[in-house]
Amino acid sequence: MTSDEVRQAIERALKDALPTRSEHSDALVDALAWSVLGGGKRLRGILVCATALAFGESNLNRAIDLASSIELMHAYSLVHDDLPAMDDADLRRGQSSTHKKFGEAIAILAGDALQALAFEVIVTSNLLSNSQKTSATRMLATRAGWQGMVGGQAWDIDSNRLPENERELEILQGAKTGEMFQAAILFGLIAADVELNDERMKWGKSLGAKLGRAFQMVDDLIDVMQTSSTTGKPENQDQTAGKVTYPGFLGLSTTRERIAIVKKEITQLLREDQLEETLLAETVDQCIDRIA
Ligand code: IPE
Ligand code: IPE
Ligand code: MG
Ligand code: MG
Ligand code: MG
Repeated sequence: MTSDEVRQAIERALKDALPTRSEHSDALVDALAWSVLGGGKRLRGILVCATALAFGESNLNRAIDLASSIELMHAYSLVHDDLPAMDDADLRRGQSSTHKKFGEAIAILAGDALQALAFEVIVTSNLLSNSQKTSATRMLATRAGWQGMVGGQAWDIDSNRLPENERELEILQGAKTGEMFQAAILFGLIAADVELNDERMKWGKSLGAKLGRAFQMVDDLIDVMQTSSTTGKPENQDQTAGKVTYPGFLGLSTTRERIAIVKKEITQLLREDQLEETLLAETVDQCIDRIA
């Protein structure tokens, strides 16, 4: 199965998961479609599927349910991340951000609805067992919530508590980005019904955390180095907003060195399970090799 085939399957599942009409608000329905279907690399969703395939899952549709769930949660996080009260970004995925297009109130509500829908997709799945649903729900709740992504986002916008050293920056980014990458890998293991013993949990968490770390370092580099036409996001948003980022803190070349080190560590983790020649390894490369 190729990366493109998996991406297309995720796109179809996302389309199916979204409402086409509502008795209450057409604007909300339109904002949901705008926020979810208007592009996006689907890397977290592909990671779910690639991990499941790497661990022998033959029914891709089970993984697709968890992949679309994580992409819905991620889409919500982007809608709220762009709000004027947060990063105040007008552009996302090459189009107006949701609040620019539909207004702030509908954007907030669209984010709320996407978060609920992410859980609904799990619990209403016809393919996942009850125990898979429980594990996935719990996993997503903790990784996305106050101790995970949302916690990291709260720190990220706290100008009174800027990270003071590399370790603090790592913790902040680990929460805002790494937790969702951990969820993606662990979702893949759940879809493949892998026994989540201590050793396998440690492996999954470590792979997800390292991948999230490399991913956010690359995202921060891209923010400095690339234009809107390539990123589909406003240029130089981090510096404009006074964010502490890896390139801001360590400079471009040291950031690149850090990325290379983390990438080596990830390759080592994949090698432990002879997974170097898999779609998972290919997706890891897609997450990291996004800059020249
Ligand atoms: C952007 O994530 C948010 C970060 C964690 C940096 P992506 O770059 O994966 O966004 P999409 O889904 O492809 O638009
Ligand atoms: C956002 O990080 C991480 C999320 C949890 C959404 P950024 O603020 O750096 O993401 P972009 O650059 O706007 O995509
Ligand atoms: Mg942000
Ligand atoms: Mg942002
Ligand atoms: Mg960014």
